[in-house]
Amino acid sequence: MEPLTSLPAWQALESHAAQVKPLHLRDLFAADPGRADRFSLEAEGLFLDYSKNRITEETLPLMLQLAEESELRGKIDAMFRGDRINITENRSVLHTALRAPRDRKIVVDGMDVVPPVHQVLDRMSEFANRVRSGEWLGFTGKKIRNVVNIGIGGSDLGPVMAFEALRHYSQRDLNIRFVSNVDGTDFAEATHDLQADETLFIVSSKTFTTLETMTNAKSARAWVLAQLGDERAVASHFVAVSTNAEKVTAFGIDTANMFGFWDWVGGRYSMDSAIGLSSMIAIGPDNFRALLAGFHAMDEHFRTAPFAENLPVLMALLTVWYNNFFGAQSIAVLPYDQYLKRFPAYLQQLTMESNGKYITMAGERVSWETSPIYWGEPGTNGQHSFYQLIHQGTKLILCDFIGFVNSLNPHGPHHDILTANLFAQAEALAFGKTADEVRADNNPEWLVPHKVFEGNRPSNMLLADRLTPEILGKLIALYEHNVFVQGIIWQVDSFDQWGVELGKVLAVRIQPELTTDAELKHDSSTNALIRRYRQRRNL
Ligand code: F6P
Repeated sequence: MEPLTSLPAWQALESHAAQVKPLHLRDLFAADPGRADRFSLEAEGLFLDYSKNRITEETLPLMLQLAEESELRGKIDAMFRGDRINITENRSVLHTALRAPRDRKIVVDGMDVVPPVHQVLDRMSEFANRVRSGEWLGFTGKKIRNVVNIGIGGSDLGPVMAFEALRHYSQRDLNIRFVSNVDGTDFAEATHDLQADETLFIVSSKTFTTLETMTNAKSARAWVLAQLGDERAVASHFVAVSTNAEKVTAFGIDTANMFGFWDWVGGRYSMDSAIGLSSMIAIGPDNFRALLAGFHAMDEHFRTAPFAENLPVLMALLTVWYNNFFGAQSIAVLPYDQYLKRFPAYLQQLTMESNGKYITMAGERVSWETSPIYWGEPGTNGQHSFYQLIHQGTKLILCDFIGFVNSLNPHGPHHDILTANLFAQAEALAFGKTADEVRADNNPEWLVPHKVFEGNRPSNMLLADRLTPEILGKLIALYEHNVFVQGIIWQVDSFDQWGVELGKVLAVRIQPELTTDAELKHDSSTNALIRRYRQRRNL
């Protein structure tokens, strides 16, 4: 593969960007009444208005050419086919198989992976129904009222995001909680008001070796045993979700209480595998399957739609446009729906663990920017926090607004107010307020520069009718594939995560040094910090 910057489309885009940068969205809209219609797209119940982007008629054809020159089509097919596109881990990347219908056939290494996917889903459904109906009993014969998922990264962020997003559909007499941080506070606060005999722990870990999760799982076992006083209680109060049956058994969980998945599911792409067990218990198997159907519908759209009408492809190309040709460093994800409050946090792992890399698939240092920083908060809270910087700061930030036409909680004027704010923010960012408009409000001249909004701040607007399990699946798959396309353009392996390893290794080395007098052989800063901790830890 040619380096990205040598591709003809890249070079054409560089000169095109120089022409577009001086243009203002105010003028682009004024000159073209059809802009909003032309630069919008509806697919699978998601409407994307991308007209408030700093693009012209020439931009997308050039970006699409970049996608072609990056061999995107062949790479999409390779992913769906189960080729080992995660080259540094020599693995297939088949999260799309997790939501494939029963009658699909996806053969990897001579084996159709779809039947085992559905076997696990069926077992999960049966188990979830038993917990939801009160049939699954704790060790003392009480019904389960609390479900605590223990996991971190992809074994936490997807499930907690989906639970919060679909809380409206959840069984309200079940308490669903999540423990991820190795900080004992997380476990203590999640369990302080729970009784062990009514609590089920789901230990979720692809590898079943992750230090944080194993530490929390051991604390959970000790907590259960301290209250119930019998090793046999573990069988009623713990289930495991993992690819590692050996480690699950070694922990003391019977593999009969284990829900498996496969090495071709990356951690951050695993929420619709058995890692979603907590979500399924919360919302029920039917809603969980609707969520998967949503994922699948977006998979099909991504796989088959022409690139010019392909939501994930368009969103990815717009990301590349600002990231690589405008020097933009971050993307704000701004859901105008309280249920999506954890969506930005979930996207942080999906996007930045996938594409936060400086080495290409060919092992070369990139000479271009890769993943932007993703961040965000639900609207309108963000408006009273960081929007000042987006409107009048010195940084260019692409905003992904997400909204729903209908609220799941229609109380009086709330939803109209929320939606008015959503549309107003995108309008204000794009068009701003000129000095003449500020003067027309009778402002003194010295105040005018402070009250001017330059505008020309780009945004995407994603709208759906209502937040349903199916729409949530589509939205997540949209971002999954958006991230995939970005990674293809930037030529990185979007499915490994070597950058998390070094810190883990050093922590394992430092931990015993904190509580012994062992000689310290770190740098002077780290040595001094350890010494200070040793001296003061029991004060
Ligand atoms: O943060 C690194 C990582 O490997 C993630 O990719 C993964 O989601 C997380 O740790 C948790 O891993 P596991 O599910 O194996 O406990």
